Amino acid sequence: MPILKNIALLATPRTGARQGDLLQIKGAAIVWERDKITWIGPERELPTGLNMAEVFDAHGALLIPGLIDCHTHLAFGGWRAEEFAQRNAGRTYLEIAQQGGGIMSTVRATRDASFDTLLSLCCARIQAMSHLGVTTIEAKSGYGLSVADEIKILEVYAAARSRTALTVVSTFLGAHTIPGEYHNNRAGYLELVIEQMIPEVARRGLASFCDCFVEMGAYSVEEARTILTAARTFGLELKLHVDQLSDGMGGKLAADLKAISADHLEHVSDTSIAAMARADVVGVILPIATLYTHEQPLDARRLIAKGVSVAVATDFNPGTAPSYHLPFAMLLACSMNRMSPLEVLDGATRMAARALKLGGVRGTLEVGKQADFALIDAPSIEQWLYHFVPNACLATIKDGSLVYGRI
Ligand code: NIG
Ligand code: FE
Repeated sequence: MPILKNIALLATPRTGARQGDLLQIKGAAIVWERDKITWIGPERELPTGLNMAEVFDAHGALLIPGLIDCHTHLAFGGWRAEEFAQRNAGRTYLEIAQQGGGIMSTVRATRDASFDTLLSLCCARIQAMSHLGVTTIEAKSGYGLSVADEIKILEVYAAARSRTALTVVSTFLGAHTIPGEYHNNRAGYLELVIEQMIPEVARRGLASFCDCFVEMGAYSVEEARTILTAARTFGLELKLHVDQLSDGMGGKLAADLKAISADHLEHVSDTSIAAMARADVVGVILPIATLYTHEQPLDARRLIAKGVSVAVATDFNPGTAPSYHLPFAMLLACSMNRMSPLEVLDGATRMAARALKLGGVRGTLEVGKQADFALIDAPSIEQWLYHFVPNACLATIKDGSLVYGRI
């Protein structure tokens, strides 16, 4: 039974507590057996009679649950630095998309990329994320937008899952935008998504979730309702990209559809927030995307005050969020979205696990949960997120095994 001692501070959200109400233990130790946590507490209370053959020393570091990035677009070809410059010079995201850039430019590059190229890109990205303390990643398709190319991306995720130690949760996002070849035939593309893609993805077990981008230039509320209702009949759970560039009552739609999460939300209305609270939809905020799109940051206090659980993720993608640095997103959630560092840690662990329907098994340091944790070189959560360094993570343990660093 491995034992990790000399933890200056162990900080973890706890099941059932309000967001940010963490358990913090000074001078802590943690014990695990194979992949599950078996004991947590002050080191001086460690049970006697434990086999001391595998005792590790945290050297006074901070221990947190493994971070969970519950919203990424991990598999894509190419980058879009030129659009970054154009947006900074005043062109809007929608203008760029209408002129053939945006999502479609990444669709072209991703269709051109081979399975092996995408797989090695994904594995390298997953490994780099694990070095930041991330132990679980959600990964969306959505840069294929044909039956073969959407399946290719989801197969890449399945292959990445078996080649890396991290948990990779796949989401089908065939309804990311209408691909160029269907511009005059939206109904035809919707039919393709509903009649061919969703059944194939579900039959082959290639995704747990179905997502849809609801926005001007992407999908309407009614189109999203049709697609997601079909996905549900095939057993997929639902997520939505909503209210990112304008208020489309997307939060309300997510609540009506009993989606697990509604993501982005910069323009979410109070009506939508109330509906999300009633339906227990997790709000996923993506502050790196807010930064790169120059949107007004969401005041997360509006959600928290109404009892909506708020998760924090990167949205890693080549257009609006070209960084997989989850601690950076966490810093931004404090400074741009007005969350406390403790609420943010909760958002990137327990709430993120809930956004992936993994709440029973991951996201907190509690006996019986999976042994996913990260050792951080900081005296407190507050100091970690305030004094931002390139990487404060000293070690990452996934399902009980060391996957990065040293202990
Ligand atoms: O989550 N909002 C829609 N999709 C992505 C951006 C995709 C892109 O620009 O390539 C997002 O921000
Ligand atoms: Fe996204």
